[in-house]
Amino acid sequence: MAAPLPVCWLNGEFQPLAEARISPLDRGFLFGDAVYEVLPVYGGRPFLFVEHIARLERSLGEIRMRPPLSRADWAGLLTELVARNGGGDMYLYVHVSRGAEEGRNHALNPALAPTVFLMAAPLPPLDPAVRDAGVSAITAPDQRWGRCDIKSTALLANVLAKSLAMDAGATEAILLAGGRLREGSSSSVMVVREGTVAVPPYGPEILPGTTRDLALRLCARAGIPVRVAPISEAELRAADEILLGFATRGILAVTRLDGAPVGSGRPGPVALRLQALFAAYRTELAGTPLLPA
Ligand code: PDD
Repeated sequence: MAAPLPVCWLNGEFQPLAEARISPLDRGFLFGDAVYEVLPVYGGRPFLFVEHIARLERSLGEIRMRPPLSRADWAGLLTELVARNGGGDMYLYVHVSRGAEEGRNHALNPALAPTVFLMAAPLPPLDPAVRDAGVSAITAPDQRWGRCDIKSTALLANVLAKSLAMDAGATEAILLAGGRLREGSSSSVMVVREGTVAVPPYGPEILPGTTRDLALRLCARAGIPVRVAPISEAELRAADEILLGFATRGILAVTRLDGAPVGSGRPGPVALRLQALFAAYRTELAGTPLLPA
C-alpha cells in the first residue's frame, strides 16, 4: 500500500499530514467510535460521490450522529483535497469520530464536536499480471459484530481475517457464517453461475457496497441476469466465477479459492465484461458534476 499524499484536512483545516494531530482521548482511538468511507478518484473526480456520502450519512445515523457537513460542503472539500494533492487518480479516506472528551466514558455525550479527518493516497494502476491471472482468496469464519452494515472503523476482526489471507499468500479472506457467504474482509463478493451474477441480500451482517451496487446496475443495463438470494458455501465453491468488488480496485476475479481453481482458473467472461463496463462508466461520468443540480 502506497504512502498517503502530503495534504490532509483535519477539523476545518488543510494541513500537512505529517503534522496532523488528534487527542489520545478521541473516542475513535479509545473505542473505535467512528465511521469512515473510502472513495476512488479518477482523473481528479471523486467516483460515486453521492453513493459514498449517502452511505456515510447512513452509518452516522445508525451510530446516533448527525452529518457534520452538508453534501455540498463534502463535495467542495474533497475536490479541493484532490487538487491540493496534485489531482489525477487517487483514493480518499473520510473519517468521522464522535470526538474527544475529558476522560474515558462509555456513555455518549451529545455535546461533543466530532473529529473529521480526510486524507488522500495514491491509487497505483492495477498490476496487469493480477488483472490477467486474477487473485487467490481463502475462506474464513466471520467473527465480526452484529452490525456490519455500519462502515465502522472498528475493524479488528476484518484485520485479523485479512492477516489469515496474507499468511496463506492470498489477497482476500471470504467470510462465511452458518454455511453461507457473507462478504470479503474488505470487499463485497459476487458469485457467477451459468451466466447469472448472484449476491447475498443486504442485512446487518454485510456492508452495502458501492462497487457491488454499481456492478448490479451495469449488469441490468447490459442484460446480464442478477440474483439476490442467500448463497451457500457449496454454491460459492461450485461457482464458475467469483468476483470481489471494492472501491479501491473495482472488480477483481478470484481464480483460486482455498488453493483450488475457481471455474477455469482464469478470470471468466463476466469478470472481464464487468471490468470493461466499469471502465466505460468511468469515462461516461468524467466531467459531470458531483452533485445533481
Ligand atoms: N472496503 N465490505 C467490506 C467489509 C468492506 O470493507 C468494503 C470496502 C466493501 C466494499 O464496499 P465498496 O465497494 O463501497 O468499497 C464491502 C474499503 C475499500 C476499505 O475498507 O478500505
